[in-house]
Amino acid sequence: MKKIFSSLVIIFSLLMASCTPSSEARMVKSGEVWLDTDGNMINAHGGGMLYHEGTYYWYGEYKGDSTYWNPRVPSWECYRTEAGGVSCYSSKNLVDWKFEGVVLPSEQEDVTSDLHYSNVLERPKVIYNDATKQFVMWLHVDSHDYGKAASGVAVCDSPTGKFEYLGSMRPNGEMARDMTLFKDDDGRAYHIYSSEDNSTLYISLLTDDYLRPSGHFTRNFPRAFREAPAVFKHKGKYYVLSSGCTGWDPNQAQYAVADSMLGEWTVMGNPCSGKDAHITFYGQSTHVLKVGEESYMAMFDRWNKTDLINSRYIWLPLTFKGDSIDIAWQEAWDVKVVIGK
Ligand code: GAL
Repeated sequence: MKKIFSSLVIIFSLLMASCTPSSEARMVKSGEVWLDTDGNMINAHGGGMLYHEGTYYWYGEYKGDSTYWNPRVPSWECYRTEAGGVSCYSSKNLVDWKFEGVVLPSEQEDVTSDLHYSNVLERPKVIYNDATKQFVMWLHVDSHDYGKAASGVAVCDSPTGKFEYLGSMRPNGEMARDMTLFKDDDGRAYHIYSSEDNSTLYISLLTDDYLRPSGHFTRNFPRAFREAPAVFKHKGKYYVLSSGCTGWDPNQAQYAVADSMLGEWTVMGNPCSGKDAHITFYGQSTHVLKVGEESYMAMFDRWNKTDLINSRYIWLPLTFKGDSIDIAWQEAWDVKVVIGK
């Protein structure tokens, strides 16, 4: 009897051991170090995700490896790293990420270039233009002290670069810092950015080629200081998730809903629930990925302001109850919840 019992224990342990690696490999563990398929730490902060022909492409800030408090900006916690450009990782399953390289590298020589490593290159987002067949990137480009407050545009005919930088502007003649892009079902695309010194969120329809503002824009949440916007659409309604304005420090998230991208927006409150929900799990929104018709994943950065390259990622399923959204804290969750396979 004893022998049978110990054999059963061995068989059970072997079964558990053979199950563990595959189920482990499918788990998303927010806040932990994430490695790419070469075993290097993933460096794609303030990022966005593009799904194109069966592959997910994750674009983000490729941060330099030393962080310093900008000595020329003593008045606020202007921690920064040298800008490395925009990195790209690809995956079929949202868990195994292959480094595709730095698809928009920073400039090493020309100090007058927006892309010079001494400047700020943040929150890159890429969308695909079906008519021009170009991958179009917009990003926040700034001077070392965040005084330039502009948006840069780059294009490529492949998702994995190298992107051609076309230049920067203050869209619609106003400041632009934290930003995202949203491509609607009808092919129209919008640039959403914190303007007027971060106090007001602008939503700007882009031209058909996605390379410039069309001139048609709205001012939203005036004087509410919303940053880190992430936009998605669910059952015909538009949602914008955003953070407050406290630099690298976390604060409470908020979302709003509208029947049209250009507004009017109704503020709904904090979508986060569970441990540390009042400070967005120590994170800040950057993107919401829609998978299929009904599944969503919210992406956040957990900034480490004194060692920015060691900032972590928080990815969580986003669910709906009617028109209300919930992003519940989970230490670990199976990616099948979102991608369904
Ligand atoms: C945050 C912003 C980040 C970065 C940081 C600099 O508010 O969301 O992307 O710009 O400020 O302090």
